[in-house]
Amino acid sequence: MPEKVLLVDDDLDTLRLVGLMLQRQGYQIVAANNGLQALSSAEKEQPDIILLDIMMPEMDGYEVAKRLRNNPSTSQIPIIMFSAKNQVEDKLIGFEAGADDYLTKPTQPRELFAHIRAVLARVQKSRVAEKSKETPKGIQIGVIGAKGGVGASTLTLNLGIALQKIGGKSVIVSDFRPGMGTIGVELGYAKFEGLQTLLQKKDFEINSAEIDKCLVKYSPGVHLLLSSSDISEAKIPTSREHFQIISNLLRAFAEIVLIDLGAGYNPLFQPIYPSCDFLILVFDPTWAAIKMENGLIEAFLNEGISQSRIKAVLYNRVRADVMFTRSQIQEQLKIPIDEMFTPAPELAHHAALSNHPIYLHQSESITVQQYNELARKILSLL
Ligand SMILES: Nc1ncnc2c1ncn2[C@@H]1O[C@H](COP(=O)(O)OP(=O)(O)OP(=O)(O)O)[C@@H](O)[C@H]1O
Ligand SMILES: [Mg+2]
Repeated sequence: MPEKVLLVDDDLDTLRLVGLMLQRQGYQIVAANNGLQALSSAEKEQPDIILLDIMMPEMDGYEVAKRLRNNPSTSQIPIIMFSAKNQVEDKLIGFEAGADDYLTKPTQPRELFAHIRAVLARVQKSRVAEKSKETPKGIQIGVIGAKGGVGASTLTLNLGIALQKIGGKSVIVSDFRPGMGTIGVELGYAKFEGLQTLLQKKDFEINSAEIDKCLVKYSPGVHLLLSSSDISEAKIPTSREHFQIISNLLRAFAEIVLIDLGAGYNPLFQPIYPSCDFLILVFDPTWAAIKMENGLIEAFLNEGISQSRIKAVLYNRVRADVMFTRSQIQEQLKIPIDEMFTPAPELAHHAALSNHPIYLHQSESITVQQYNELARKILSLL
């Protein structure tokens, strides 16, 4: 989502020139050539940042800044004052009026861009930090497939149910796969407005009340945050901050939050990985998956995530006579295998046909026992 800059200047040439330069940098521009127009545009357009000239007839930039700060709907928008007034005194008045930064004209475009980027980044960071502070912390478990199709989503859902049944914990199973969500489809839901609704908002608009509206109750103690399998959801421009804020806020709603983080390393989830209490890395007994599992383990260890928080789960889905044994796989793997699932293709197929999770479809099955075992191991670590 391009960031929106409100440019305020009474000089039309400056508006045009600076507007064009910023547009080329990928920003969306809204322009105002007097103070009053600036105030109404700020309120209506909710820009990410305001570049504000000082010397304007009728209402100067100082007054505009003060009024912006006094209006709750614009008080949080960062302001860079951009003026030919270059005395220290002028800058001090600007900061007192509520500016976050001050730049003197004329300026090098590169310097202007750097200031805008720096202010936006600072604001972003403090917003994310604020959101994290207000949230009580449930346990967070990220589930990642070493590669696609190894059973990560199936594991996220069924482990969530197992943790609720065995541990009596309140659980959220969330699907962070915009446009590629499978949990909702497998459970037969027709509507998936969970994640989509949140991603369509600006990151700072996401709060606990919004999250609450997007959660679906599945069974006693189990809520879902679904993502859709519709391409239109995949097309929503989104950011790391969106996912970081959603994952943080979810922790206020349950004792355990499981997140299906898809397959492989995803830069969008980079801030989430270290915040997970456990990262479950699912792989199957193929060379490619073992290699990718090792790659993920190494990446997370390098990011400072301790080995005790990384769980390697070997998920066999296909019966094969020629298959690596557990000990052969263990020899290749950088960390011990925590749990191994045996193939249950008929069970998985029939569960999917009846829109049930494996766990509830055949509660006496070996697969369910294996889910329970993994759940017990995790519960013993809490
Ligand atoms: N124990 C099992 N035995 C056999 N097949 C299974 C088992 N568990 C799940 N499956 C089936 O394997 C397929 C892939 O599972 P799933 O969608 O969970 O994988 P994934 O790793 O999430 O895939 P993607 O990378 O596409 O998100 C599904 O059709 C599922 O029904
Ligand atoms: Mg999946």
